[in-house]
Amino acid sequence: MPLVRSVPLEDAWQKLLSDSLGRRIDAKPLALMVARQSARYRGEDVALAHADALAARALFWFPRDVHKFALPSHELLAAGALPDRPLRILDVGAGLGASSLGVVRALTPQRSVDHITAVDNDPQALALLKRIASAAAREGLLPAVPSLDTETRDVSAQGWDRHLGRYDLVLAGLSFVEMTRGLGDEHARALALASHFETLLTHVVDDGAVVIVEPATRDEARALQRAREVLLARGVTVFAPCTHAGPCPMLVSERDWCHEDLAEASLPAWLVPVAREAGLRWEGLTFSYLTLRRDGRTLASSLHREAQPALVRLLSPALETKGKTEAIVCGALGHGRTTARVMELARDAKRHAGITLGDTARGDLLSVPAESLAEEGKTVRLAPGAWVRHTPTG
Ligand SMILES: C[S@@+](CC[C@H](N)C(=O)[O-])C[C@H]1O[C@@H](n2cnc3c(N)ncnc32)[C@H](O)[C@@H]1O
Repeated sequence: MPLVRSVPLEDAWQKLLSDSLGRRIDAKPLALMVARQSARYRGEDVALAHADALAARALFWFPRDVHKFALPSHELLAAGALPDRPLRILDVGAGLGASSLGVVRALTPQRSVDHITAVDNDPQALALLKRIASAAAREGLLPAVPSLDTETRDVSAQGWDRHLGRYDLVLAGLSFVEMTRGLGDEHARALALASHFETLLTHVVDDGAVVIVEPATRDEARALQRAREVLLARGVTVFAPCTHAGPCPMLVSERDWCHEDLAEASLPAWLVPVAREAGLRWEGLTFSYLTLRRDGRTLASSLHREAQPALVRLLSPALETKGKTEAIVCGALGHGRTTARVMELARDAKRHAGITLGDTARGDLLSVPAESLAEEGKTVRLAPGAWVRHTPTG
């Protein structure tokens, strides 16, 4: 399996991003802009000049958000579920290109990207995307993308996509949250998201995928999971993150939601003081996502051979308590069940030389003996060595 390129951006990116922006900003004033932009991302009505918002996005959010498509891209790659040719990408709500350039970075050197169409309603953001892409290619930090078009369009307007063709990958990174947040309750948001995603699906080739990344926050992740239910009912294939096509167990209680938390993906060292000053975290990367397809292929069906046990995803981190490690898993567990609590005894783990439950993280995929999971209401004891971790996350 490939490794996710979620190591922090190389130091040379700091100058590249400043040069592309045409501004150099010290950590303190930058942190103020970042804190204000962060509040705006949370939906708060905070004043920030457009030039300063763009600066905060280029110098802080780009280096963080550029990793958010690495996991979904690597799952597609690991499953052999990307078209076998240089890829054509449509990036919707592209902003500065953290999504599409993030995919270029994540897929190098296994796959090349031949073309990007970047759509956004902010022409200045799109101009900056172009400068970042060409500077990164010039500096050897990213492979050159032979053709890169930008289009200024309002994606919430009917027919915004009428002239567009089909692409191998259609991406939408943290953009539909901005178009649907005002709709209020999660059901209304889910319907609006589902209808946007159906439009995106009309622009993907039969063997391609639509990947949507949204914030990891409760309201945004739940709206995304509700949109998944709407789309499943309309016959759309959910490739990932779910390993089953049943109802989402995280929607049962209002307190729950499903999101990724990649502990290994941290900000580059030069941004740690900015994050600290702005009151934001610099370690780990959280987001929620959906990978959709038209061809019926799922991550579970791709990684899973006939005789294999159940493919489950960890919904929680592995929590160590006295004498044992526990985690919640999600998958097609039999008898209509989709979640179970699994447990490993510390004494079993101590005797085992290989990977144990304590080595796993939220979002990991495990193949687990199916029969052990089928029993209702019981914490399932896993023996180390009886299950396998799939590691598109490295
Ligand atoms: C948080 S940024 C994300 C940018 C980039 N996709 C990323 O992953 O970093 C959201 C982007 O969505 C764009 N956007 C918001 N509403 C839009 C609309 N109605 N039409 C087109 N773009 C929109 C914004 O201009 C902004 O660039």
